[in-house]
Amino acid sequence: MSETLTQALVNLAYVVAASLFIFGLKLLSHPRTAVRGNLLGASGMLLAIVVTLLDRHIVGFELIIAGFVIGGAIGATLAARIPMTAMPQLVALFNGFGGAASAVVAGAALIDPTLQPEVAPGVREITLQFSIATVFSGLIGAVTFWGSLVAFGKLQGLITEKPVLLPGRHAINLLLLLGSLALGALLVGAPQEFWLYWAVVAAASLLGVLLVIPIGGADMPVVISLLNSYSGLAAAATGFVLNNNALIISGSLVGAAGLILTNLMCKAMNRSLPNVLFGGVGAVVATAQEQEDIYAGKVKATSPEEVAMLLEGARRVVFVPGYGMAVAQAQYAARDLYQLLESKGIEVEFAIHPVAGRMPGHMNVLLAEVDIPYDKLKGLEESNALFPQTDVVIVVGANDVVNPMARDVNDPSNPIAGMPILEVDKAKTVVVIKRSLSPGFAGIPNPLFAADNTLMLFADAKQALTEIVAALKES
Ligand code: TAP
Repeated sequence: MSETLTQALVNLAYVVAASLFIFGLKLLSHPRTAVRGNLLGASGMLLAIVVTLLDRHIVGFELIIAGFVIGGAIGATLAARIPMTAMPQLVALFNGFGGAASAVVAGAALIDPTLQPEVAPGVREITLQFSIATVFSGLIGAVTFWGSLVAFGKLQGLITEKPVLLPGRHAINLLLLLGSLALGALLVGAPQEFWLYWAVVAAASLLGVLLVIPIGGADMPVVISLLNSYSGLAAAATGFVLNNNALIISGSLVGAAGLILTNLMCKAMNRSLPNVLFGGVGAVVATAQEQEDIYAGKVKATSPEEVAMLLEGARRVVFVPGYGMAVAQAQYAARDLYQLLESKGIEVEFAIHPVAGRMPGHMNVLLAEVDIPYDKLKGLEESNALFPQTDVVIVVGANDVVNPMARDVNDPSNPIAGMPILEVDKAKTVVVIKRSLSPGFAGIPNPLFAADNTLMLFADAKQALTEIVAALKES
């Protein structure tokens, strides 16, 4: 087969792979079609990998197969073992390794002339596109790798979750960015000076650590989504290094998707991206005095039996799940209670806050796992419109997303000021299931727990819901 025909076929296969990525992404936007979307995207990637392996005149498959087997085994074990609540850490690691792979491949291409672009038949040399793309691969890849490792460490509790605010950090970061760009410019001028590439990577690595270390644990999911976008950009840059269209397209898709998700999360928390990245928010921890001022003498505890009686008399009940439901794995018990209430002719819905839990779509995934019909899950605005007509709201391990303090926009120290919340306090009665009066991720007290129409059911969410089901069945 002629070289031109082979190239045309390779590019055709890449277009098919890219179309599969795009259709896959489209299907991922709805829970009903998400699994099919995932399969479509994965098939696109398989096609792209097979075509690349056939096209690139691979010398030997031994190392590739070994990497595939070892990497696949590690990936499959991690994915199967990791609890749902630790998913953000896992995604952080995946992003980090993606960034590292881009930086290392670009570095290898700089050193190994057989990976460099062919400028004439049989003649390979470093072009301007190649060297500029190499610099960006190294820079963005290293920031992504080290930033992701810090994000992983914070969420895994290996390093402090609190923002580490170094004096003059903005100036240091700016200097590191300008320094790595200057080193990159030198490398473009003298690409045979390999050490300059590793100098870019070293400066960018330090930048990656310093960019993420001042960010608090609560903001980490947003940072992880941003780093996901960076890992895509690093892959796209490596696509330009290797002249590989599939890598350029898939990297750009990841870059764009990560940015869109970052933006959506910032909006749901009423925060700007610069505020998340440079605000150092997350250092707040409620003092005992603050908690005492809000709760003293006003908190009413309840029992599963009392909640069952309340539910017996209700016509409309809304569940508000939060991070605690994920921790307690209480979605099965919530499903049982939902089914029991529906069988009694009570209207039941689930109100889902966009940042409930610790990752986008966290609650949707848990509730889909137990087959709650998708049309029972309502978003923020729809739920808020109906709370005044709701007899009982059952808050299952949620805290910040129902905290009326968000309405206090004038307090500069309020980390959730202006965040849109589920206005459960407008319902007739609110039952809050959690183990204590401890704050949620934002670290602030919640006046909802002391409201006149709130009853606190202090227990593990799974245990509490199971006991309510038992009490309802007995009554
Ligand atoms: P949180 O405000 O974090 O509150 C969770 C509550 O669950 C805690 O107060 C805890 O109280 C309770 N809990 C823990 N284990 C429990 C168990 N076994 N049984 C019952 N309750 C339990 O959760 P939320 O309302 O879902 O809010 C999410 C927070 O994460 C927000 O601040 C949000 O901005 C932040 N965040 C989320 C995302 C995404 S994408 N989801 C992204 C960035 C930031 P006790 O210890 O008293 O039980």
